Order: sequence, then C-alpha cells, then structure tokens
Amino acid sequence: MLSTLPRLIGHRGAKESAPENTLASIREAAHQGARWVEVDVMLTRDHRPVLIHDDTLDRTTTGTGAVPLLDLAELQALDAGTWFDPRFVGEPVPTLEQAVALIGELGLGLNLEIKPYPGQEEITGEVALATLRPLWPAGRPLLLSSFEVPCLEVAQRLWPEIPRGYLLWEPPADWAAIADRVGAATLNVDQSRQTAESVAAYRATGRPVLTYTVNDAARARELFGWGVAAVFTDAPGRLAAELGAELAGEAPQGPDPR
Ligand code: G3P
Ligand code: MG
Repeated sequence: MLSTLPRLIGHRGAKESAPENTLASIREAAHQGARWVEVDVMLTRDHRPVLIHDDTLDRTTTGTGAVPLLDLAELQALDAGTWFDPRFVGEPVPTLEQAVALIGELGLGLNLEIKPYPGQEEITGEVALATLRPLWPAGRPLLLSSFEVPCLEVAQRLWPEIPRGYLLWEPPADWAAIADRVGAATLNVDQSRQTAESVAAYRATGRPVLTYTVNDAARARELFGWGVAAVFTDAPGRLAAELGAELAGEAPQGPDPR
C-alpha cells in the first residue's frame, strides 16, 4: 500500500518552468519543493526506456516521427530543451536510469507512468520494471501507473508489492471491476471531469483519488474539499505558495468517513 502520498506531485517534473520529462524538469520540481514527481516512460527502437510523453518526437524534441523508430543513441543526439526555452539548449531525452539516479539524489518519490507506444503495452511494462527494480531503494515511495490495463497487469505480475495507479480519462463502464482486477491502489483521474459526486464514487471504492493536471489553486482547493488526495501539477512551487497552510495534513487514503 501507499504509506505516504504528498498533496502535490510535480507533473512531468515541473512542466510549467522546464521542458517536460527532462532531468532539468525533475531538478526544477525538487527546487520548487515537490516531494514527488510524475514522469512518462516509453521504449526506443532498441527497447531502452526513456522519458517522453508523446508517441512522436516532434513536439518536445528536435526530431520527427514516431519514438520507436529511433535507437537510444539516435534519440540521445536530439535536443529536448530548446523547444521550451533557449536556456535549456542541449537538454537530452533522459533514460529511465538517468532519471532514477537523479530522483534518488534529490530524495524524491516517484510516480512512473508507463506510457507505451500503441501495440507495445506488455514489453514497455516489462522493460520499464526490469530497469527500475534493481535501481529503486526499498522504502522510497513509488507508484506505478498507466492508462493501459496490460501495463498494470504486467506490474501486478512482476512487482506486485509496488502500488499501482489506474489512470482514467474517459472511464469505461467497468472501471471499478478493472480496478479490482488489477489490484489498483489509487485512481488517477482527469480533474476537468470531476464533481463532488464523481470523486465520492471513486472514493467509495476505498482508494485515494489523484487528479491530473491542476495548475489553479482555486480548483485544487475545490478538489481537495471533495476528498481528492493529491493533484498532479505543472507548477508545484506556485501551487504550494498559493495554497499555503491549506496543504497541511494527511492526504485522505480511503472512503469518505462522513
Ligand atoms: O499521470 C498523470 C498524468 O500525467 C496523465 O496524463 O497525458 O499527462 O501523461 P498525461
Ligand atoms: Mg503522465
């Protein structure tokens, strides 16, 4: 189970202030005071796990085309920082190993989102976990998550003791049965779809509810008021400053006791 869960989790590092899913973004999240970061992991052509969000290279690197068309060496020659700001020129696409080493140095918890290129659900889960497992110190907070049920099934099979978060965008009718089947510890849901009722329904399953992506303090306040345990934010420092003492206290871990 999840023993600790902060109220704010840096989304793709600190995406508002640094190029997402880079080492600079992870450093920035820690600098802003985040205790956990969320990053996305996908495979290269030679099946090496790297941090990137999109299926294609175009938006966040100097490359073009699908991520799994390049080997790691080719991908590492790309620039993943300049698109965001010239200050980040030369910032590479990090490997999962590099990211984990930095996260360890910075003392952060991690939510690793397994983000397979379509059709590579199982192999992405298998490689990401095989890479992460020997590097991850026992006791450091870790949550594995995915929108893709086969990735969660791989995590359940290969590393069952690590909590799994079931990511939902448009929830399927049988989301609750799937959450039970994959042994989901948390429900990680799109904030824009949430109401007091929807959050109550998720919490009624006994799981903490995490919502992505919240960059507005008033919305965070509303979600926390409905019993949301934690929010993914591109701006962990700004939100922490704006919410201040309201962030004190434990994140609710189970159903609403009222
Ligand atoms: O894991 C929370 C959030 O990152 C899920 O959506 O598209 O930003 O990976 P996305
Ligand atoms: Mg993500």
